[in-house]
Amino acid sequence: MLVIGGTGTVGTEVVRALTDKGAKVRVMTRRLGAHSGAEYVAGSLESPETLGSAFDRVSKVYLLTPLAENEVELGMNAVRAAQESGVRHIVFQSVHQAADAPQIPHFKTKLEIIEGLRSSGIPYTVLSPNNFFQNDLGLQEPITGYGVYAAPIGGVGCSRVDVRDIGDAAAVTLLEEGHEGRDYALVGPDILTGEDCAAIWARHLGREVAYGGDDLDAWAEAVSSMMPEWLVRDLCVMFAYFQEHGLKASLEEVAELTQLLGRSPRSFDDFVAEIAPGWS
Ligand SMILES: NC(=O)c1ccc[n+]([C@@H]2O[C@H](COP(=O)([O-])OP(=O)(O)OC[C@H]3O[C@@H](n4cnc5c(N)ncnc54)[C@H](OP(=O)(O)O)[C@@H]3O)[C@@H](O)[C@H]2O)c1
Repeated sequence: MLVIGGTGTVGTEVVRALTDKGAKVRVMTRRLGAHSGAEYVAGSLESPETLGSAFDRVSKVYLLTPLAENEVELGMNAVRAAQESGVRHIVFQSVHQAADAPQIPHFKTKLEIIEGLRSSGIPYTVLSPNNFFQNDLGLQEPITGYGVYAAPIGGVGCSRVDVRDIGDAAAVTLLEEGHEGRDYALVGPDILTGEDCAAIWARHLGREVAYGGDDLDAWAEAVSSMMPEWLVRDLCVMFAYFQEHGLKASLEEVAELTQLLGRSPRSFDDFVAEIAPGWS
């Protein structure tokens, strides 16, 4: 079992869920270091010649592509390496409802990689997560320092998800039979607006936290020193879409995920209750 992206926010949870179930896991990384719990091998999706040893004798792959301007090329390098080594099943991580919003660059890239997977002939499953709860870990400073919830997700609402549920769903779809050809929405149980998220942080921190508002120019300026310009533009298109349409799961999608996990997906309220004591 090979996990690509297995050192990141989601991937570490995929590795955790797989190893908890006794699976033997190999993780490909550009930076070999002090990792444990799996076999770590060097490789980069940028360099197809490094992929052979990572894919050697692997039958199943979790493919997470990083946010990158050349994301499709990176994803297709993995698909070609999988073809060459005879991989029998790929679980690809996309984005919830990507097909409804191909104007968002990093949603469109997922659709193109899925098209490449379809053409490859390798059986595959798509996991389509909503916005991660864990994105808020990067908002500690504005929340605790200024009392501002600074993600401009708008007032329609998103069915945000805990990345631990992505890890658990990945393990089920990789280790159990019968998930080829499926696309699972990975979503939380609640539809959350920016105001809702601010209120939940406020309640658990016992302090005022206000939603920072929908001004995307102000958001872009605030984050411009922290991420490349192309990514700021990409995320502005995404937040504008969230503000207009939200990213809401249907009851059927929540029910399907509940069945897949064998339990309800984790709630944002419980996530914040876990994190807030460490921030107080
Ligand atoms: N944030 C959200 O709310 C959200 C919601 C839905 C979907 N997504 C999608 O989730 C993905 C990001 O997941 P994440 O937040 O877990 O990512 P992350 O924490 O940024 O981790 C990126 C991972 O990709 C690996 N990586 C980066 N460049 C690589 C390369 N050239 N070759 C091989 N591996 C490479 C990194 O490994 P090393 O550094 O060890 O090499 C790391 O394991 C994106 O596709 C994004 O569109 C995000």
